Amino acid sequence: MFEQKPYAPSCDKNTDPILEVLKLYLPEQKSLLEFGAGTGQHAIAMAPHFPNIVWTISDREENHKGIQLWLQDFPRVNLRGPLSFDIDRDTFPEGHFDTVFTANTLHILSWEQNLKLYSLLGESLPNESLFLVYGAFNYNGNFTSESNQRFEQWLKNRDPKSGIRDFESVSSELFKVGFDLIRDHEMPANNRLLVFKKCR
Ligand SMILES: C[S@@+](CC[C@H](N)C(=O)[O-])C[C@H]1O[C@@H](n2cnc3c(N)ncnc32)[C@H](O)[C@@H]1O
Repeated sequence: MFEQKPYAPSCDKNTDPILEVLKLYLPEQKSLLEFGAGTGQHAIAMAPHFPNIVWTISDREENHKGIQLWLQDFPRVNLRGPLSFDIDRDTFPEGHFDTVFTANTLHILSWEQNLKLYSLLGESLPNESLFLVYGAFNYNGNFTSESNQRFEQWLKNRDPKSGIRDFESVSSELFKVGFDLIRDHEMPANNRLLVFKKCR
């Protein structure tokens, strides 16, 4: 039976701006793990730009079928996965990763799940590794736009444990597990792309 690929319209909008930033950081990297890849559209669009990288897609198992449908239509030589990586159930995926990329996940995860993710990153990634995070963030406890404030309400209605994370809290918790903030990129539509490096 014909199966329809899941489609995330936001990926079409944000892929190019994200790609431009990733190009600043990924030329020397070799092995990237994508956390919470969703449909897999980011991986499929971006992996061909980084032939130096083996890009491994991960997400909860419920999303794997959709990712596989995308991979069937758009096979990429440097894509692997999808691997199962549910922060509540799974250990950190096996393999040597020097980069972790994630988009629009920290505000979906509860704060406890955020802390678990950071702890696993601190334990599992070698020094010099990069952690690149795209999404909406608050600064000094404030929304950066009315649209982000509305987005927060939508998130909370869906799951009260979700919510836009504070830039300061994310940075300080990641610092505790060995990551320094390298750069905070302003992105379209009131989003940010934060770049952390494992220094300790
Ligand atoms: C808003 S979607 C973002 C998907 C994709 N990165 C994008 O930008 O379109 C949030 C993702 O977080 C994942 N997610 C939610 N809870 C998770 C958990 N406990 N462990 C791992 N991933 C989780 C979902 O499966 C989903 O793919």
